[in-house]
Amino acid sequence: MDRDAWLADTRSSYDTVAVSYADQLRGALAGKPQLRAALAVFAESVRAAGGGPVADVGCGPGHVTAHLHGLGLDAFGIDLSPRMLDVARRDHPHLRFAVGSMTRLPLAAASVSAVLAFWSLIHVPDDAVPGVLDHFHRVLPPAGPLLLGFHAGAGVRLKTQGYGGHPMKVAVHRREPTEVAHWLRAAGFTVEAQWLLDPDQPTPGAILFAHRTP
Ligand SMILES: C[S@@+](CC[C@H](N)C(=O)[O-])C[C@H]1O[C@@H](n2cnc3c(N)ncnc32)[C@H](O)[C@@H]1O
Repeated sequence: MDRDAWLADTRSSYDTVAVSYADQLRGALAGKPQLRAALAVFAESVRAAGGGPVADVGCGPGHVTAHLHGLGLDAFGIDLSPRMLDVARRDHPHLRFAVGSMTRLPLAAASVSAVLAFWSLIHVPDDAVPGVLDHFHRVLPPAGPLLLGFHAGAGVRLKTQGYGGHPMKVAVHRREPTEVAHWLRAAGFTVEAQWLLDPDQPTPGAILFAHRTP
């Protein structure tokens, strides 16, 4: 599938589910202590690196952006889906959100202090991931922290409905943390840690802590 086609399908899928996605995910971090711990570690890394703007890429309805803001970070969100950002702005009017794709990240070189991408890279095909990581590298300063969250495992499936039975047409990739770590090193990152979440569940999660290699 060509790039514009999968991006268009992903955008319209999340436009369709934006309101119900936000309703289902609102408050979800409260029941996810490991995710909150990962975000706290990330926030500490950002502060240790001197602070500054933090891009939440593929932010969806902005609940993670808002959590980072609550941890004292200057967090803002970017997402492919305009309807997701309508919800994000409604729920978090004090925060900044902008439409954009991580495949053409609309940020200047070294313009952010850190990047987070939580369960958004899962919609990017393998052959486009190195280009996305190049963008993350470009917008970060040397030693700038990067936090990735994604579905662990292998394979890709086409999700045709979700979040209350709404129609979707979006590829969902699972990836081994070692594979993502390999891509990160090739893009100029140093991997600090990898956490495996819910290993006994059907869809485990993975968190990778990294920083742009100085
Ligand atoms: C599963 S949701 C995750 C949302 C949020 N990060 C969270 O943790 O709940 C995936 C999000 O990634 C966004 N997304 C998918 N592909 C994207 C791309 N190429 N650039 C920016 N955002 C993208 C979708 O619009 C959607 O809001």
